[in-house]
Amino acid sequence: MKVEYTALKRNFEMYEEEYRAAYERAFCSGWYILGPELEAFEKAFAEYVGCKYCVGLNSGTDALILAVRALGIGEGDEVIVPAGTYIASVLGVTENGATPVFVDSNDYLLMDASAIEQYITPRTKAILPVHLYGQSCDMTTIRDVANRHNLAIIEDCAQCHGSTWKGRKAGSLSTISCFSFYPTKPLGAFGDAGCVCTDDMELANRLRMLRNYGSKIKYHNETIGINSRLDEVQAAVLSVGLTHLREMNEARIALAERYLKGITNPKIKLPQTHPDATHVYHLFPVLTEERDALRKFLEEKGINTQVHYPIPPFLAECYADQGHTADEFPKATYIAEHEVSLPMYSAMPVEEVDYVIEMINQF
Ligand SMILES: Cc1ncc(COP(=O)(O)O)c(C=O)c1O
Repeated sequence: MKVEYTALKRNFEMYEEEYRAAYERAFCSGWYILGPELEAFEKAFAEYVGCKYCVGLNSGTDALILAVRALGIGEGDEVIVPAGTYIASVLGVTENGATPVFVDSNDYLLMDASAIEQYITPRTKAILPVHLYGQSCDMTTIRDVANRHNLAIIEDCAQCHGSTWKGRKAGSLSTISCFSFYPTKPLGAFGDAGCVCTDDMELANRLRMLRNYGSKIKYHNETIGINSRLDEVQAAVLSVGLTHLREMNEARIALAERYLKGITNPKIKLPQTHPDATHVYHLFPVLTEERDALRKFLEEKGINTQVHYPIPPFLAECYADQGHTADEFPKATYIAEHEVSLPMYSAMPVEEVDYVIEMINQF
């Protein structure tokens, strides 16, 4: 059997008629930027997350860059980030000239909230937790530390649309949250797209200016902005996806539960979910001491896997000047060296999951 790591066409086919109707509506409207489709999506997504405002942007990376900028964080400031994450979480900080300060991972493969406080200095301006793989970080501890030190929280929600912490949706527990709608994400567009969510009206207004050349009124540029707008066609298809997000997440969770129950090979360490969190399994990450051998074995059986992420950002070439070493963050380094992501997407057939389970148990 051939098992693709992800198959976006199958996701599209699940709701094909609705997607076709939405993009046709947007195509035929004659209005493609900053229009009614975006307004409707922003309203619906803010409601879904449980925030007052949503501002649609070009990508999750732009969301992070502009969120940091809107908070006035720049040169000389520090932002606390996870050592184990995708590089984009950190690019949002360094694009503004601020310094990322890394914190090691915990057993949930997330930023270790209990380790944050030791890294706070007079220059610290914000904490940037990343709800990696689809599970929320410990937001109780993070909010508590942020409150005590008067710091902003910027949530990176690129992978966790719909997951919760103590019943509250990820993205509603911070000063500002940043979402990606990259096609493979739990809520994916048909191209690049992203947004920020916040309860702070001033911050939302600043973001609306920043995404539109720095202007609220045409040709009146109050601040130096960029062009980062979520277009009408993407907004229209995202609105369709949003109406199905709950069932798409339920499908991912059911597939993950099948993996969790079925995989019994002692060489494989399965992902854990914190009792206060829910997981939407954007990815299904396992750890193994025999990563290369497992991936090769599965590839021979027709199963495609990936690694998230082989080089953690603190060891990235582009941040070599910071002089970090692998032994500073042993857990993040361990994850980077031993993680394998198994096939996972909402429209994945159950038979394919069962085949992956069978082959992993054979390994
Ligand atoms: C954790 C995380 N943050 C940020 C991003 C950036 O999002 P985008 O690809 O939409 O720029 C990604 C995307 O892959 C991500 O996984």
